[in-house]
Amino acid sequence: MYRTHTCGELRIEDIGKELMLSGWVQRIRDKGSIIWIDLRDRYGITQLVFDEAVTSAALIEQARKLGREYVIQVKGNVLERSSKNPNIPTGEIEIRVSEIVVLNSSETPPFTIEDESDGGDELRMKYRYLDIRRNPVKEGLLLRHKMAAEVRKYLDEKGFIEVETPVLIKSTPEGARDFVVPSRVHPGEFYALPQSPQTFKQLLMVSGLDKYFQIVKCFRDEDLRADRQPEFTQIDCEMSFVERKDIIETFEGLAKHLFKKILNVEFDGDFPHISWHEAMEKYGSDKPDIRFGMEFNDITEMVKGKGFPVFDNAEFIVGISAQGCSEYSRKQIDELTNFVQRPQVGAKGLVYVKCNNDGSFKSSVDKFYTPDLLAQWAEKMQAKPGDLLLVLAGEKSQTLSAMCSLRLEMGAQLGLRDNKTFKPLWVVDFPLLEWDEEAKRFYAMHHPFTSPLEEDKVHFEGDMKKIRANAYDFVINGVEIGGGSIRIHDETLQKKMFTALGFSEEEAKEQFGFLLNAFKYGAPPHGGIAFGFDRWVSMFAGMDSIRDIIAFPKNNAAKDVMIDSPSFISSEQLKELSIKIVD
Ligand code: AMO
Repeated sequence: MYRTHTCGELRIEDIGKELMLSGWVQRIRDKGSIIWIDLRDRYGITQLVFDEAVTSAALIEQARKLGREYVIQVKGNVLERSSKNPNIPTGEIEIRVSEIVVLNSSETPPFTIEDESDGGDELRMKYRYLDIRRNPVKEGLLLRHKMAAEVRKYLDEKGFIEVETPVLIKSTPEGARDFVVPSRVHPGEFYALPQSPQTFKQLLMVSGLDKYFQIVKCFRDEDLRADRQPEFTQIDCEMSFVERKDIIETFEGLAKHLFKKILNVEFDGDFPHISWHEAMEKYGSDKPDIRFGMEFNDITEMVKGKGFPVFDNAEFIVGISAQGCSEYSRKQIDELTNFVQRPQVGAKGLVYVKCNNDGSFKSSVDKFYTPDLLAQWAEKMQAKPGDLLLVLAGEKSQTLSAMCSLRLEMGAQLGLRDNKTFKPLWVVDFPLLEWDEEAKRFYAMHHPFTSPLEEDKVHFEGDMKKIRANAYDFVINGVEIGGGSIRIHDETLQKKMFTALGFSEEEAKEQFGFLLNAFKYGAPPHGGIAFGFDRWVSMFAGMDSIRDIIAFPKNNAAKDVMIDSPSFISSEQLKELSIKIVD
């Protein structure tokens, strides 16, 4: 027997108990006649005490030989502490130790294993198993577990069944590059790792399973960011005999269940819906952060023709009004200008108008615009005295995107993006197809299996840019948490879609013959959604990066620095796989 209790559970009521604890030595404080040791396990920290007045010299000597992260077992009894620590649940007691067994020694860890660690990112990733001993990381994993359990509970109660789909599959074109796995038995042939189980879940609907879900690993070889990993987890779902409203109702239910069970947050009424078009016009983003207003105002027509070349030559001019910022200093305005000029944001410059409290205006374009004209801008942007107008001009989609970044930056500067406030919404009616000017072809905005809106099907024969998808994204606080659609379930429409995407009949058959075939055997109307589980957990955990809630994540260069992967394989392995590496 190693322990009678955990290091997190003893309280004042336990005083006098004889017990055994096992755990890691977090900290040793040696005050000469008294030694205190913080003993840690997954459940908490308990203070051990060795007091020269009552403890044998041999035991004190043994305690002195312990080091950080030694694994020990102690026997002892519970005492009331003379100086209590209100910051931890066990802070009222300590253990007077009568026996120590060293279960394992430890080298000095490369960083301190405490909530605030002195270890840099890379170091902590290299020793991730030590990093996980720290509370913030451990708590993230516990939260992740709890959320997965609640997802399973909710979906099980709604009649969903969890079905595993294969990991060695054939490439599905869903936007990103595939990770591929060479086949030994079929030299020169490759499996692909799934970017999502999309086609499999649709086949399960053809099989009649009706309600499917899976908490599943997906793999995408794409550029990494804070909210992207090459392997990540989806809550993947599909239902038969449903329309968009049925899916939204079911999964809004899941979202509300998680908010309630995990964060004890409740919502009045339904989550708002916004069309993709409106989201782009008002927020310059298909995943708007609606914790705050500061909506866009298209002032293109209003401000052109006054001799200011930047505006006169621009395709699109857009402004926002930042409440109470008219007293921004020269330095603050310069910083905002630098911000919008960063390559990631991409604006050429920033025009500002200060709506002073005395009713006057001060702007960077005073030379071209009279106070009366500036007053019209302010009125259009519903600005009040004390507000600051910020205006960007240029090519439309670029300017919308730059203004989106500036709006988010202003939201952050004004403290309007509190991570304890949650504003979920559904973004609907995305365009079905996206024109790629370079490749001179259409791409599917979601994936090729997304159904168009019934009333837009006529545009397949005309302007295909006008076709809206029967798709929906689930967004919380500016983060795309999930996305899905009603699917195409008939072979003719699916073939039409492949043609629109530039597939020849042969190519469509070669890549998706299995799905087109399945559609010949009574495919039911169906639709679904997938949530980015890592993103959802990291949002609930209040973390900035999904790495924080993944046990063993990859770094920004897609490397696992702990196991040193990817890595070279032996020439024997290569030979077996019939692969030659070219320099
Ligand atoms: P989609 O590609 O939108 O849809 O993916 C669903 C959700 O997965 C999350 N996500 C990611 N999370 C972390 N790292 C990544 N690299 C990453 N890529 C995506 C996002 C996203 O909303 N099969 C469809 C779903 C469907 O139509 O049912 C799909 O995969 O939160």
